[in-house]
Amino acid sequence: MGKPFRIFATTDIGKEALDRLREKGWEVEVYDHLPAPPKRVILEKVRSGIDALITTLRDKIDREVFAAGSAAGLKVVAQDAVGFDNIDREAANRHRIPFTNTPEVLTDATAEFAFFMLGAVARKLYPAEVQVREGKWTTWHPYLPWLGDEVSGRTLAVIGMGHIGKSVVNKAMGFDMDILCHDPTYEEHSFIEAIRWFMEVRHRERLSRRLQTIEYVSLDDALRRADFVSLHVPLTLPGTAEEPTHHLINEERLRLMKRTAYLVNTSRGPVVDEQALARALREGEIAGAALDVFETEPLPADSPLRDEKLCGKLRLFPHAASAARATRLSPDPNVGMAGRCVQAVIDVLDGNHDGDPRQMPFVVNKEAFS
Ligand code: GLV
Repeated sequence: MGKPFRIFATTDIGKEALDRLREKGWEVEVYDHLPAPPKRVILEKVRSGIDALITTLRDKIDREVFAAGSAAGLKVVAQDAVGFDNIDREAANRHRIPFTNTPEVLTDATAEFAFFMLGAVARKLYPAEVQVREGKWTTWHPYLPWLGDEVSGRTLAVIGMGHIGKSVVNKAMGFDMDILCHDPTYEEHSFIEAIRWFMEVRHRERLSRRLQTIEYVSLDDALRRADFVSLHVPLTLPGTAEEPTHHLINEERLRLMKRTAYLVNTSRGPVVDEQALARALREGEIAGAALDVFETEPLPADSPLRDEKLCGKLRLFPHAASAARATRLSPDPNVGMAGRCVQAVIDVLDGNHDGDPRQMPFVVNKEAFS
């Protein structure tokens, strides 16, 4: 018997899932402090010869980590998230170390959260509750102290048509919305056709009052026409993609939006230029925004987004769109991120799928193994 595999997790991704690794006789060490480990600790662990590194979006896994891993026998980096902009893909490829993510299992949790954020900002759920809690609900009045904006029947722009964007489309259908789709990298017309068919059935069966519409449009068109804009693109930096999404929503693009429109971001903070957004909100260029992700997380104390004057029109959340019990913790790889993350570790260490990373479903950088 060789030595058992050693796995280091930069945080506790869930005991039940990690037990699946322990049950195989493997050694699992969890960094047991609330904040992410400093880079020094990650490097120390990697240099000590761990076989697998379990990470989250808080950990910067850069070329130094991959070089250390390559020298010390690191076999896999398993990210407990669908996004992986914190991982240097090029460095992983150079050292031929597979890294994995947890796609699909958080699709619906993230999409529904985006929708709830959209509803919260448009229908003013936060000011409404504050009014009750602070004893300022003195009477029922037709329009005082505030009114929200309806969601049903309005136009939604979905920017980024991957799994999460499509799930948002599916949910928006039930709110009788017209849908504008935009994706910087590809267009899947069969999906649009399928949704149109559902829209026709809903209309025919009188489930919607009018025939809804869905179409692919340019980004500028989507921004000009939408009442709500929801972002679902991965973060890509200049130089790493043909159309990088860093600051995709900038001053110029915010100016294209209707003054009555709302922006929702559950993708990655740097997709939106926060300075430009704060200004657009202050100057009434758009009606409101709801953000779950920020350029710097946690949100700094001096962020312009914390301006009290914006409070009525800006909802802020702590990167929590996937934070639902089963989605985060289920050890089942078909249900939970934790399950999918440990399954990815098992696939690599056990050599499942003929030991070929290209066939392992959760390996991201398959191109490194061709
Ligand atoms: C969360 O943001 C994730 O990428 O899973």
